[in-house]
Amino acid sequence: MQKIVILTGAGISAESGLGTFRDEDGLWVRHRIEDVATPEGFARDPQLVHGFYNARRAQASEARPNPAHQALARLQQSAPGEVVIVTQNVDSLHEAAGARGVLHMHGRLSGALCATCGHRWPAPAKMQPEDACPACGARATRPDVVWFGEIPHHMDEIWQHLDAADLFAAIGTSGQVYPAAAFGQEAARAGAHTVQLNLDPADNARDFAEHRHGPASKIVPAWVEEILGA
Ligand code: APR
Repeated sequence: MQKIVILTGAGISAESGLGTFRDEDGLWVRHRIEDVATPEGFARDPQLVHGFYNARRAQASEARPNPAHQALARLQQSAPGEVVIVTQNVDSLHEAAGARGVLHMHGRLSGALCATCGHRWPAPAKMQPEDACPACGARATRPDVVWFGEIPHHMDEIWQHLDAADLFAAIGTSGQVYPAAAFGQEAARAGAHTVQLNLDPADNARDFAEHRHGPASKIVPAWVEEILGA
């Protein structure tokens, strides 16, 4: 049975109203990464960083899955083989569409983390620097997301999935941030067929055997129907 591994990026949530990072109106156009997405930026100004993630958490809580998220959940439920979804996104739209076991390699807006003791708990809508950790009481709470310079989550498990994949698809990601940008190469090296589904050619397009361009809400359901109908 065919094992399918899928990587998603901000582009799959764009049509749900959540911004991407590197498009013309992207988050990294409006904010400096070093100010809001690094441990140094958080140490320098925790209020600014909490404010940035509180705004994204509020926006994500209003967002709804689009047909691309729904199609991937359908693929996971209907495909005869294993379908593993790895996402760089910190929203919960895959889960809202019914996907299961999603590997959030960059963490989740819905999670809070204590920088002192490592305790994790569901994040409140608004996090503040003076919040105390429910476990150790330290005033060192942070969003449970992976910042630049930090280690992404679930990497051992992800590499194993890629090495066992028959089909690897990257959806809505610019292929500019490693290690995710190398997943296509790794899957191809292990013998998988690789396909990139994106609005336009991504930086690592040459790593993929097949390319489909267009809005995810259109091209992902069509791709899933083809696979399920095959
Ligand atoms: N449908 C399909 N693809 C789209 C759509 C859409 N409606 N809208 C945008 N895209 C594509 C863009 O063409 C771009 O290639 O989605 C990609 C988004 O790229 P980025 O903004 O770089 O987002 P992503 O690749 O997820 O960024 C990776 O970088 O900053 C870090 O942690 C952050 O997880 C993020 C990582």
